[in-house]
Amino acid sequence: KCLLGYTKPFVRCGEKEYVMAGSYRKHAEAIYNFQVRPDDVWVITVPRSGTTWVQELVWLVANNMDFKTAKDKPLYKRFPMLEVSTHIPEIAVELIKINFFNLGNFQGLNEAVKEKSWKSLDKAPSPRFIKTHLPLSMLPPNLLSTAKVVYVARDPRDVAVSYYYLYKMTNKSLLRANFTHFWEAFRRDLLPWTPIVAHANEAFEKRHHPNLHFVFYENMKKDLHREIGEVAKFLNKDYTDAQIDRLAEHLSFDNLRKNKNVNNSINKDSEIQFIRKGEAGGWRAHFDEKMQLQAEEFLVTRLAGLELSYPSFP
Ligand code: A3P
Repeated sequence: KCLLGYTKPFVRCGEKEYVMAGSYRKHAEAIYNFQVRPDDVWVITVPRSGTTWVQELVWLVANNMDFKTAKDKPLYKRFPMLEVSTHIPEIAVELIKINFFNLGNFQGLNEAVKEKSWKSLDKAPSPRFIKTHLPLSMLPPNLLSTAKVVYVARDPRDVAVSYYYLYKMTNKSLLRANFTHFWEAFRRDLLPWTPIVAHANEAFEKRHHPNLHFVFYENMKKDLHREIGEVAKFLNKDYTDAQIDRLAEHLSFDNLRKNKNVNNSINKDSEIQFIRKGEAGGWRAHFDEKMQLQAEEFLVTRLAGLELSYPSFP
């Protein structure tokens, strides 16, 4: 079910009214009926929550720390995005048309859309690694009972700032917009794939499900070694401390930022990179007092009545 949203050409879809690209309507059913496989591993997030970081982590943990393949093959090929590579390349095209993405800067999407030989996930060999920004309620209903899912959540204030820079990186016309304008849209839940708190809460409510592993970005910042260990347990893998340390080093902000297979925005035109600052709490530098109060109100009202809270809030 999709309603026309006030963020044309986006629409609001599903019981919880998520903001989606208009063409999502055409594909909602196909996505809902997508064939999940028992050996799939999915990473689900709202954009800018640390998706890429966790994808690289999950892929290496699941693939016996195969750093060689990770070095040879870009992450977007090892771990494609459901919305782009299977049913809805049109969404990407639509995002380009409305200037949401400037594909010139966006290697992964660019190739996914252009490459005629792009294999649909339906035909991809097992085990598949699948990234999506769709919330659980818009994904196949047997997903959790069939495959393993890692959900990553991040303080919405940091997501807002990071999302703003993604727009700046990909959409030249927005370069003049300031963060205050962007924040107005964010706090009204008008950005694609939001509302952010409802999205996270859907997964948080299932956090005790044996096939769901819920991760906070902030906890990865605090103790990456520990979080790698938890993912390894979740994926039934056993690694020594030294192996985990090596992966933590590979996943460090500086190393991922330099890694062309992961930081898919490395381009000459932009100062802003896909892997940008990597801070928890960096939002403070972007919020004046009024915005801080608005953000608090945003979080208090969205979290009211939920068990979900963020390590950084309250
Ligand atoms: P910032 O813009 O705040 O720097 P996603 O992959 O979901 O789009 O998330 C992108 C965010 O994750 C960016 O946040 C990016 O810098 C951050 N990130 C990526 N790799 C990271 C790492 N190794 N350590 C910390 N943050 C990382």
